[in-house]
Amino acid sequence: MAQIKKIGVLTSGGDAPGMNAAVRAVVRAAIYNNLKVVGIKQGYHGMILDRMEPMTSKSVSNIIHQGGTILKSARSEGFRTPDGRKKAYENLKKRGIDALVVIGGDGTFTGARIFGQEYNIPIVGVPGTIDNDLYGTDYTIGYDTALNTVVEAVDKVRDTASAHSRLFFIEVMGRDAGFLALRSGIASGAEAILVPEIDTDFKQLYNFLEKGFNKDKSSSIVLVAEGEKFNGGAIAVAERVSKEYPDYDTRVTILGHIQRGGTPSAFDRVTASRLGVSAVEALLDDQKSIMVGVMNKEVTHVPFNQALKNKKSLNPALLELTQVLSI
Ligand code: F6P
Repeated sequence: MAQIKKIGVLTSGGDAPGMNAAVRAVVRAAIYNNLKVVGIKQGYHGMILDRMEPMTSKSVSNIIHQGGTILKSARSEGFRTPDGRKKAYENLKKRGIDALVVIGGDGTFTGARIFGQEYNIPIVGVPGTIDNDLYGTDYTIGYDTALNTVVEAVDKVRDTASAHSRLFFIEVMGRDAGFLALRSGIASGAEAILVPEIDTDFKQLYNFLEKGFNKDKSSSIVLVAEGEKFNGGAIAVAERVSKEYPDYDTRVTILGHIQRGGTPSAFDRVTASRLGVSAVEALLDDQKSIMVGVMNKEVTHVPFNQALKNKKSLNPALLELTQVLSI
């Protein structure tokens, strides 16, 4: 295989706190290893439109603590088409970019897998999404920060919930995965947690709520992942519960995109730094079409195929914990 001389780095899909720390690590590791490095703006969209610029060590100064992504992000429709990918490849070729590091979630890696196969270009993925839903890594970059953002917000809602003896349904992100809902629910002492992986069981939910109100609990909080199975979200669940219990003073809070913003936690910065460097090392080691991840504190390499085919499951021990703790 031809020796890699210039790599491109991009962030794609939903931004996640810590993506900047990962970009910084990729750029610095590339320069450390005498490679040239180019920043591709707006993910695959910018690759198609040739929005790229050379990066230096200085271009990534003072970004480790910043949320969002200096490279910007996008969900590219064009890259789903062979035409779009052809344009993207031609732009890479024109600029002499011979390998890529892509930072994002499953949509990003799906694009990378197809593109890598079509044009035989080495690509390594770095998991960056607040959803933590990627198989092959215990943690994705951004998850820890989002978790702490959610817990802080729920704590605040609890103050007002308890002042008014209200029942709150708080919706958090996670269309297909309940990692954020489950862990933040446990950390904030939620009475019940509804996740996309498990059918919403109203009987059980009523049971929890009744128990709480009979015990004179001053408030109840139900954490709802946006992809919850009944009707996709907190509003529908709250409506149904209100019909059954019209006397409960019920409110809904949707946390929305505040969950994706903010200063990355120390944990996310360290994970991002480690994985960014590992991604460059993997390319230098002739690896392609893999995601770098962390499992049991060790860096792992997982083929895109496996990371995309397998579904990471929620920890059953944490699910059980909720049952015990919400009595
Ligand atoms: O994948 C990250 C994520 O934040 C999901 O949790 C959420 O469902 C989705 O992105 C929202 O995407 P957008 O900002 O494009 O509406």
